Amino acid sequence: MSDNAKIKSAWNDLNSHARFTLAQLFGADPDRAAKLSQRLEFDLGEMGPVGMRLDWSKTHLDDALLGIFETLADASGFGAARAALFDGGIVNPTEGRPATHGALRGSGSEADVEEAEALLARMGMLVDAIHQGALGEINHLIHIGIGGSALGPDLAVDALTRDLKLVDVHVVSNIDGLALEQAFAACDPQTTLIAVASKTFTTTETMTNAMSALKWLADNKVDDPSGRVVALTANPEKAVEWGVDETRILPFPESVGGRYSLWSSIGFPVAMAVGMEEFQAFLLGAQAMDIHFREAEGRANGPLLAAFGDLYYARIRGCQTRAVFAYDERLALLPDYLQQLEMESNGKSVTAQGAPVDGATASITWGGVGTDAQHAVFQLLHQGTHLIPVDFIASIAPGDELDPAHHKALLANCFAQGAALMSGGNMSADGKDPARGFAGDRPSATILVDDLDAATLGALIAFHEHRVFANAVLMGINPFDQFGVELGKKMAKEVESGEGDFDPSTKALMEAAGLG
Ligand code: F6P
Repeated sequence: MSDNAKIKSAWNDLNSHARFTLAQLFGADPDRAAKLSQRLEFDLGEMGPVGMRLDWSKTHLDDALLGIFETLADASGFGAARAALFDGGIVNPTEGRPATHGALRGSGSEADVEEAEALLARMGMLVDAIHQGALGEINHLIHIGIGGSALGPDLAVDALTRDLKLVDVHVVSNIDGLALEQAFAACDPQTTLIAVASKTFTTTETMTNAMSALKWLADNKVDDPSGRVVALTANPEKAVEWGVDETRILPFPESVGGRYSLWSSIGFPVAMAVGMEEFQAFLLGAQAMDIHFREAEGRANGPLLAAFGDLYYARIRGCQTRAVFAYDERLALLPDYLQQLEMESNGKSVTAQGAPVDGATASITWGGVGTDAQHAVFQLLHQGTHLIPVDFIASIAPGDELDPAHHKALLANCFAQGAALMSGGNMSADGKDPARGFAGDRPSATILVDDLDAATLGALIAFHEHRVFANAVLMGINPFDQFGVELGKKMAKEVESGEGDFDPSTKALMEAAGLG
């Protein structure tokens, strides 16, 4: 049988496989919780251990489904694709490029890793020099970027600076001037550094904000405003043209995609906020997850198993969304980060070869933070008509130093939600009131980390990157391009300049706002 025929037959088998409820699955196998849970432990030497439990037992995956998914992975060339990812092969065929973000954390071809190490050393020197006063007193950093040049730094700075903050970081992305004004209001221009983060160094929002930040420094009588700018980019020539001195340009390779660039110099504000040593721990945690992803096979591979679950719900059960709830304030920005990672990577309609895809691709990622979300959106999860697979993420060690009762209640809520979604029941006295009934059988997965330190955060983000990659391979799509954002960008320029032929609705809106 050809691989294509095997792929087709695997999808047919997945579709026709008998559907059991979660209660039936647990009832049929007393070891189910253990079998579908995995403990990952990485020894990072001086950086300490990273540990996490991945529990996929409250999903509808069973032994037979997993076997079919493993067959699908083989027929889809998962092993070869994974090897190509780490060996610098062309895994982004529409742009004829490799995807070398792994090399930034030591997982890649020798040449790519060597290049990454040199770039990281350069960043380390600049970070240390600034910490030691090379640019005068620096207390604030306004990091200007958008999409992948902002979401990762924002998440990591927010997650890792609860105990330690060497510099006060503000991430600004929106072209709405209010965003930048808010950062200005919180910073003293005399002690503020501006980081302009843009892979291309041409993105309208970022370049507009960067110009306004430079003007703000000048208006506030800062000597040599350009001397306070650091550029983080894969296009250093553009940064020089823009006026940044070469000594303050931190380049990264073109083969690193925007939404995969947190490990590169785009992570500069993270290193500025927590120091290079912590940033190294962050990279090492990601590297440990890379090694797991490279070496573990089939269902024993955490990110691959998660992708099996994603595809089962998106393609077999027709779920259009997937929700992520972090029961940890430090991960409040994780859903935003994952939205770009998952939706910009896998929100496609054609295969890597340009043929129409055979089934749904990335589901819509959304989520929030627990317990807040319980009092806002969980009603729909429990009683709504949509089936929504949920991921819960929590840490055994608390992030706070208050009465342990806080953390105990946080974890109790997290675990109880997964259990309630699965079990269902009826909350009325006679157990019959439909308004108080819960159908149950609603799936969830739980990632329970030992402690949310820098290394664990790195491992957690790398887990999701690999999960996205595994999904893409199984669907036959290219997760590393993003042409879907281009049409809107082009038309925004046309609307702004008034050049172009617009539909009557758009014309009327332009007229109403005095545009064009
Ligand atoms: O418009 C989408 C996008 O290209 C993202 O992929 C990217 O992360 C973001 O814009 C920012 O791009 P840049 O880093 O080149 O400014």
